[in-house]
Amino acid sequence: MRYLVVGSGGREHAIYCRLMSDGSASEVYVAPGNGGIDKNFRVNISATDFEGLYKFVKEKSIDMVVVGPEVPLVAGIVDFFIDRGVPCFGPKKAAAMIEGSKLFAKRIMEKYNVPTAKHYDFKGQSDLLDFLKKSHFPVVIKLDGLAAGKGVAIPENYEEAFSFVKENVGESTDVYIEEYLEGEEASVLGISDGTTVIPFIAAQDHKRVFDGDKGPNTGGMGAYAPAPVITSERMDFIQKEVMQPVIDGLRSEGAPFVGILYAGVMVTKNGIKVLEFNARFGDPETQVILPLLDVPLGTLFKAAIDGNLHKVSVRFKNEHAMTTVIASRGYPGSYEKNKVISGLNDVQDVMVFHAGTEEQNGQIVSSGGRVLNVTATGSSLKEAKEKIYSQIDKIKFDGAFYRRDIGYKAL
Ligand code: AMP
Ligand code: GLY
Repeated sequence: MRYLVVGSGGREHAIYCRLMSDGSASEVYVAPGNGGIDKNFRVNISATDFEGLYKFVKEKSIDMVVVGPEVPLVAGIVDFFIDRGVPCFGPKKAAAMIEGSKLFAKRIMEKYNVPTAKHYDFKGQSDLLDFLKKSHFPVVIKLDGLAAGKGVAIPENYEEAFSFVKENVGESTDVYIEEYLEGEEASVLGISDGTTVIPFIAAQDHKRVFDGDKGPNTGGMGAYAPAPVITSERMDFIQKEVMQPVIDGLRSEGAPFVGILYAGVMVTKNGIKVLEFNARFGDPETQVILPLLDVPLGTLFKAAIDGNLHKVSVRFKNEHAMTTVIASRGYPGSYEKNKVISGLNDVQDVMVFHAGTEEQNGQIVSSGGRVLNVTATGSSLKEAKEKIYSQIDKIKFDGAFYRRDIGYKAL
C-alpha cells in the first residue's frame, strides 16, 4: 500500500513512522511534512491545495490518503477525494462539523443526550455582555468556529470577560457561555466507520505551557497513555453514553462520521462531561497512543473506510507511553525560528517525532512553536518518563524549553 498523509506536525510524523514500521505500507508520503520525514517522501504541497494533492496522488498511484489536521477536513478534503474515487481516511465535511462548529457539537450533544456543560447562545456583544454582568465567575466563553485553540476564554471576572469579548466578538459572531467545570481532563479517541466506534486507550494532554499547569494554554506540551483517571468503568460510560450516541446521531442526521472521533472530557464530581469533540487524531495524544497499538494501523483505516470495523478487534500493548514537547522560546506567543537543532542522532531508547522542523541545507532547523516530541514506552509510566528525561538534554537548540512534569497526575 502507498499512503499519502496530509499534515506537518508531530501527529503526522507519528502516523508516518507507524505505517512504515508495522507492515501497513510499502511507501508513505507526507504533504507538506517536516524535517523528520525522509526527503524522498516529503511532498512540498500544502494541506489545503486539494488539486495539487490530487495530482500527486495520481502521479504516484497512492492507494489511500490519511488526513491529520482539522482545517482540510472542515474544508471538505475527504469529500473531494472520495468524489474522485480515492480512498481517504477522515470524516467528510458535514461530519467534521462536530469540530468545525462548537455550536453544532452542542446541538448534537443536547439532541442525543450526551453529558456536557450547560450553555447559553449569543450573537454579537450586547446581550452577551449583559449576561456576563450578572454571571458568577469563572465562566467559559467559546467562539463557534475553528480558532486554533484561541477560541476559548475562562475569565475570572467581568473585566477579563469584557476585554476578551471586545477583542474577539463582532456583530455577527456566534458565541456561547458555558458553565465552568472542575475536574481532571482526559482525551478519549475512537475510530469509527460511521456505525461502529472502537475507543482507544485514554490519554492525557498537558495544555498549559509551564510546569504545574501554569501559564497560557498551548496546543499541548506533552501527553501520556493510558490515563488512569479513565478507569474501565468510565471508559465503558464514555463508549455507551458519549461515543456511540454521537456516531449514531451523526448518521441519523445524514452525516455519518468515518475517521477518528476525539472526545475531550472532564471527570467531574458529577460524572463525565464532554468539553469538546475533535474530528481527528489529537496532537500530541497520537504520539503516545500509536506506539502502544498492537494491530497494524493501515488495517484499521481500511476497515473504517470499508464499513467493516465490527469485524476488527483493536488491541493495545500492556505498556505505558509518554511524550514531552520541546518548544521554542516565546511559544505559545510569537516564537523564534530557524535555530539549528543538534543531538538528534545522539539519543537512545526514545523516539523523536518532529513537529515544527524543516531541513535547510542538510541541517534540521526549528520552524514552529512546538518543535519536537521526545517519546518513550516502558513497562511503567515512570520507566517511560525516566527514558525521556535521561535523553532530552542531548537535543539542543537556542531557546529550547520543555515541561519536566509530564504525567504528574498519574505518577
Ligand atoms: P476546548 O477547545 O473546548 O476543549 O477548550 C479548551 C480548554 O479549555 C479545555 O481543554 C479545558 O481545559 C478548558 N475548558 C473548556 N471548556 C471548559 C469548561 N466548561 N469548564 C472548564 N474548563 C473548560
Ligand atoms: N491535544 C489537543 C488537540 O489535539 O486538540
